[in-house]
Amino acid sequence: MAIRIEGLTKRFGATPVLKGVDLDVADGELVALLGPSGSGKTTLLRILAGLEWPDYGVLEVDGEDWLKLEARKRRIGFVFQHYALFPHMRVRDNIAFGLTVRPRRERPSSAEIARRVDDLLGFLQIAHLADRFPSELSGGQRQRVALGRAMAIDPRVLLLDEPFGALDAAIRRDLRRWLRGVHDATGTTTLFVTHDQEEAFELADRVVVMGHGQIEQVGGADAIYDHPATPFVARFLGGVNEIPVSMHAGRAGAPGVDASEIERIACRDGAATLVARPADIGLAPDATSPWRVESAAHTGPSLALRLTDGAGGAIDVELPRREARGLDLSPGAAVRVIVHAARVFPDTDRPAAPAATPVLKPLKEAHT
Ligand SMILES: Nc1ncnc2c1ncn2[C@@H]1O[C@H](COP(=O)(O)OP(=O)(O)O)[C@@H](O)[C@H]1O
Ligand SMILES: [Mg+2]
Repeated sequence: MAIRIEGLTKRFGATPVLKGVDLDVADGELVALLGPSGSGKTTLLRILAGLEWPDYGVLEVDGEDWLKLEARKRRIGFVFQHYALFPHMRVRDNIAFGLTVRPRRERPSSAEIARRVDDLLGFLQIAHLADRFPSELSGGQRQRVALGRAMAIDPRVLLLDEPFGALDAAIRRDLRRWLRGVHDATGTTTLFVTHDQEEAFELADRVVVMGHGQIEQVGGADAIYDHPATPFVARFLGGVNEIPVSMHAGRAGAPGVDASEIERIACRDGAATLVARPADIGLAPDATSPWRVESAAHTGPSLALRLTDGAGGAIDVELPRREARGLDLSPGAAVRVIVHAARVFPDTDRPAAPAATPVLKPLKEAHT
């Protein structure tokens, strides 16, 4: 099923929770919604499931208007972080539940239900758990059963809201691979919500980064890591420096900061923020620079340094050992910050999209 979401807007009281979300999900795709707590991920899933209604916007699935379709007619499979399996029912009955509660004329025969449940138990590699009660299962096993229960109704769309959020890292990793295998075998269109970037990038075909009720960026790991579209995305992925600079004729500069290796960018003159990873920064001795080494620690192949400028600014640098050789990096040493790779965003709330695309190509090339 292909999902089309356009301009989806939702407020709770005066609080905007979704601010015009546009998203297309292709039939059979597994998309991860990645974002911090409170960014609106669950609200978006609940709207898809028909548990919540938007104030404005479009929600179509295979061309059908789902905002006119009540929840139970959408045939959604939903797995929550804390999925309450029925404690008094064995695994097999939990999985069968969605089929047994169907109206009589849509309900398969009990033999057919039993056969489907057996198939699913085998397919999900949980046949050995069939006769257990939920209290006899580990957290990971419970979530496998919860997925089985969601899949028993042959859902048109699967919605998974941080399904592994309460589990240990090692179990999460296993479940992630298992879920990817299940998805590859069934091809059910799936939206997977997580705030864990590793999980999102390993699992999904495409990652949708959400922040403050809007989509900040959509793409694969390479696009999102190497070309974060907004400072929000860069910050959310973490491990970046934000260095205040001023822009002049497409070039970023600041005292003690040399960004001349960075391609000129289309950014108006004035204050901007340069976002650079610690490993994309080099150092040179420079007595005129305000940046001083505050600390340096060996981390195996590289040196982890923290620089400060005496005015509240700090920069983390990860310098390969061979580049550190011969440099005075003792505490207090003055150094110039050489930026090898970075993104620059003008200091406005939402930077213009072309802010970080290289410009000043020859005009002819730019217009063909
Ligand atoms: N039923 C509700 N009533 C009022 N505010 C809500 C309700 N549900 C969610 N919110 C608020 O909407 C925002 C987004 O919540 P949510 O969609 O749960 O985000 P996420 O799943 O990304 O953590 C939060 O600020 C939350 O407090
Ligand atoms: Mg949530």
